[in-house]
Amino acid sequence: MTQQTYISWYKTTKHPTYALGASGVQPCQVNELPFISWDIEINGSFGYGYPPLTQAIAEHYQVPENCIVTTTGTSMANFIVLSSLLKAGDEVLLEHPVYDPILQLLKHLNINIKRLSRNFANQFQVDLNELESKINHKTKMIILTNLHNPSGTLLTNETLKQIAAITAKYNCKILIDEVYLDLMFEEKQATAYKLGEQFIVTSSLTKTYGLGGLRCGWIFAMPTLCKTFNAFNDFSENCQVYLGEQISVQMFQNIQFLAERAKQLITPNRKCLFEFFKEYPEFEVITSPYATTYFPRWRKGKADSLVSRLEKEYQVSVIPGKFFEMPDCFRIGIGGEPNTFAEGLKRFKLVL
Ligand SMILES: Cc1ncc(COP(=O)(O)O)c(C=O)c1O
Repeated sequence: MTQQTYISWYKTTKHPTYALGASGVQPCQVNELPFISWDIEINGSFGYGYPPLTQAIAEHYQVPENCIVTTTGTSMANFIVLSSLLKAGDEVLLEHPVYDPILQLLKHLNINIKRLSRNFANQFQVDLNELESKINHKTKMIILTNLHNPSGTLLTNETLKQIAAITAKYNCKILIDEVYLDLMFEEKQATAYKLGEQFIVTSSLTKTYGLGGLRCGWIFAMPTLCKTFNAFNDFSENCQVYLGEQISVQMFQNIQFLAERAKQLITPNRKCLFEFFKEYPEFEVITSPYATTYFPRWRKGKADSLVSRLEKEYQVSVIPGKFFEMPDCFRIGIGGEPNTFAEGLKRFKLVL
């Protein structure tokens, strides 16, 4: 039997009361959103992108409309970019650890995958020397997440420019999955798409705003590439979900409200988690000031046994590091309801 993927595990596992693994902000309920208008239609949108939604995305990220392809979440955005631009035998440089569906898709496409190690020694940054030593004329794409899932670290635009400078002489694209970048809120750096034509960016409203079910995602890329992506998307989608597109426009119109909601959840949880890490130095961890995901390593023993005891004895779950190819670690998320998070951490202490 092949190894279970992260997504199939996540979808089929019954998560306990204190589920502290999720990467995004607590899903929104309709009754939390006083601004929603239900004066919407089922049918209406056809063509490449619902113009009011494309305009809203363009305005929010300051990207030209003809550089945007709307998609069904970041998942579909990544699927379209990777499947349409890569073919079997192509070589890519992929961060390690990485969000598992990206790795699984590349394997499925029979891509020759070389890894860029993001680890505690390099603060989960990209080692530019390693990049330089591994890139060559066969490298078609560099694939990174920013903020990084699982460690939550930020690649600054300065670093991304250095990466672009290294890759400039190769015919190589740089895919940045920015699904967590809005978590920087007021401090948010501009999308990497603005750094140059090599960059392709994928993202969505899902993680920062608790809107996973809306599936509002997009790709930023040069207009010629956008045409390729739209043509590829024609294989799977006749049109997008108009109800979702209309509601997504309303979300952009009220994005500040959603950002405030997210901050109210994240801020106390982050404080609580950082205090926990201070109290328990047996965890090695990078404490990003922006992230919802943290990826501690337990210095005292096997993290997987800690994780399974935590769940069996205390009804607390986190994401086992094996799903990020780093079984010494686990991923913990701070987007949940603060009382539940605090109680979960209290229980965590009992297992230590
Ligand atoms: C790095 C990364 N990309 C994409 C996704 C999927 O995002 P979406 O729900 O927008 O499809 C996730 C979800 O956890 C993720 O961590």
